[in-house]
Amino acid sequence: MDFSRPELFDFQGISMTKYHTDKWEKIQNFQARPNDIIIASYPKAGSTWLSYILDLLYFGSETTHIFRGTEMLDKLPTSPRLIRTHLPVQLMPNSFWEQNCKVVYVARNAKDSVVSYFHFQRMTLMFPEPEEWSRYLQRFMKGKMVFGSWYDHVNGWWKKKQSYSKLHFMFYEDMIEDIGREMDKLCSFLGLSPSAEEKERIIDSVQFDEMKTNDMVNFSGFVKQMNFKVSSFIRKGKVGDWKNHFTVAQNEEFDEDYGEKMKDSTLQFRTEV
Ligand code: A3P
Repeated sequence: MDFSRPELFDFQGISMTKYHTDKWEKIQNFQARPNDIIIASYPKAGSTWLSYILDLLYFGSETTHIFRGTEMLDKLPTSPRLIRTHLPVQLMPNSFWEQNCKVVYVARNAKDSVVSYFHFQRMTLMFPEPEEWSRYLQRFMKGKMVFGSWYDHVNGWWKKKQSYSKLHFMFYEDMIEDIGREMDKLCSFLGLSPSAEEKERIIDSVQFDEMKTNDMVNFSGFVKQMNFKVSSFIRKGKVGDWKNHFTVAQNEEFDEDYGEKMKDSTLQFRTEV
C-alpha cells in the first residue's frame, strides 16, 4: 500500500492529522440547513451502527447516505442530510447551531472505546501508527488521539446538551442492551413514527452479524487505506471487550486517572451490561 500514515499535531488545542484538517475552511464555512441531522461521536462509539439505523428510518435503504464525510456534503442530494462528524463540540461549524439542527450524539465507555480505537488504528493507514497497546493506552489517557481527548469530547457534548435542546444523547451500552427501546427514544426525538413491521425490519438488519457480513458497511473491497487482514471494521460489537486487553495494573491506573478526569462530570458510563 502506497499510503503513508500521518503524524499527530496540535490543531486548535486538539490532536489531529493532515487528513482530518485538510479541508478545514470548507468545513468551517459549511452552510447547514434547518433539517440537517448531525450524527456526532468520538471515534469508535458505534456511529456506523447509528447512521445505518437513521438511514433506514429515513430512506428505507441501507447504504445510500452513510459514510458521507463532511467534505462530501456538497454532493448530498437528499433531505434530510445525515451528516456524520467526530469533531469535538467547540470545533463544530457555527452554521449548525444557527440553523438549530437536530443532533444525535452517541457515546461509549472509555475502556471499550480505546480498545476499539486501537484495533481500528492498526488497520487504518489514515491514522498514526498505534504502536503497542500499553503505549497506546497511555496516549489515550493523555488525549493524544485523533479528535483529541475522549474525556473532553464526551463532556463537551454532554455540557452542550444542557443549553441546546435539540441534542439527543445516546449510549452504545444502552443500544447493546435494548436496541428497540433506544430506537423508540430516537424516533420520538426525531418525530418519526415507523410502523411495528418497519421497526422490526430495521432491528433485524442492524444486528451485529448482519452488519458484519455487509461489505458496504465494512468498507471492505473498496478502501485502499484499510488493511482488513489486520482487523475488520465491524469487529466484535461487545460491551466489556476491554477485559481482554487491560492488565490488572493498567486497569487500576486507568480507573484512578478516570476518576480524576471525570470527577466534575455527571456523565455515567457502564463498562458491562
Ligand atoms: P468494536 O471495535 O468494539 O467491535 P464506529 O462506527 O463509531 O467507528 O464504532 C465502531 C464500533 O461499533 C466497533 O466496535 C463495531 O464493531 C461496533 N459496531 C458496529 N456495528 C455494530 C452493531 N450492529 N452492533 C454492535 N456493535 C456494532
